[in-house]
Amino acid sequence: MRTIRGPGAMAAASALWRQRGLSVGFVPTMGALHEGHVSLVRRARAENRRVAVSIFVNPAQFGPQEDYRRYPRTLPADLARCRRAGADAVFCPEAGGVYPEGFSTQVEVRGLSDRLCGRFRPGHFKGVATVVLKLLNIVRPHAAYFGEKDFQQLVVIRRMAADLDLPVRVVGCPIIRESDGLAMSSRNRYLGREERSLAPLLHGALAWGARQPRGATPAVLLAGVRKRILRVPGISIDYVSLVDGRDLTDARARADGQRLLAAVRLGGTRLIDNVEVA
Ligand code: PAF
Repeated sequence: MRTIRGPGAMAAASALWRQRGLSVGFVPTMGALHEGHVSLVRRARAENRRVAVSIFVNPAQFGPQEDYRRYPRTLPADLARCRRAGADAVFCPEAGGVYPEGFSTQVEVRGLSDRLCGRFRPGHFKGVATVVLKLLNIVRPHAAYFGEKDFQQLVVIRRMAADLDLPVRVVGCPIIRESDGLAMSSRNRYLGREERSLAPLLHGALAWGARQPRGATPAVLLAGVRKRILRVPGISIDYVSLVDGRDLTDARARADGQRLLAAVRLGGTRLIDNVEVA
């Protein structure tokens, strides 16, 4: 497995793979890798002849009061995980390599980026879309793999890829959970002991919502989920929403393809999670 720092070297390695007729799978990450990321690398490995992972804590997707500085950086352990999961190359650029002096372009997927997490993290999805497009242009993979835990991010990236005719297959992969139901996330390590023991209740509340029969209207379902989340001491809710899984519009009535999403704050940690609603 190669560790590559420069965008030019990454582009050249990937170009060589493609010239040799090898399919390229790509897993963009911000590091602090866990089993959720590993599942993406394994899926990319199973579906492609070559796999590249990127590790880059992207400053452009953090707000001024957010956790960019303290975001966990665990490169040696990340590289070991990537090697074990079967990556061929790990691209770890410096911020200056991604955003050189004079960098002035931003990609905005309007509408989809302003709702749900976008309301609470202004500019976040602009930062995500910009860096993902940049990484895709460097690596030029046949397929790129994203976790469904960041469901809104997945929908934004799918839209961007479709709108801009990007020659890449965007693959959404299932959420990987701890044994108590908590969705794996690099930010879970911020949770104190007490908070960690309470955090799975978020998934419990969403799973309850997903079990409600079609007769339960969106309003009734959402009220029940909110009530269950608020049983957790010290928790506050950014949002709980039932949306159409393709375009994230609010569900007015129950239908196929809906997704129940929530973002909460537990102590100093923001947690997001979502479930499919049948
Ligand atoms: O999901 C993430 O880790 C990041 O948002 C991504 C897609 C790597 C862009 O920085």
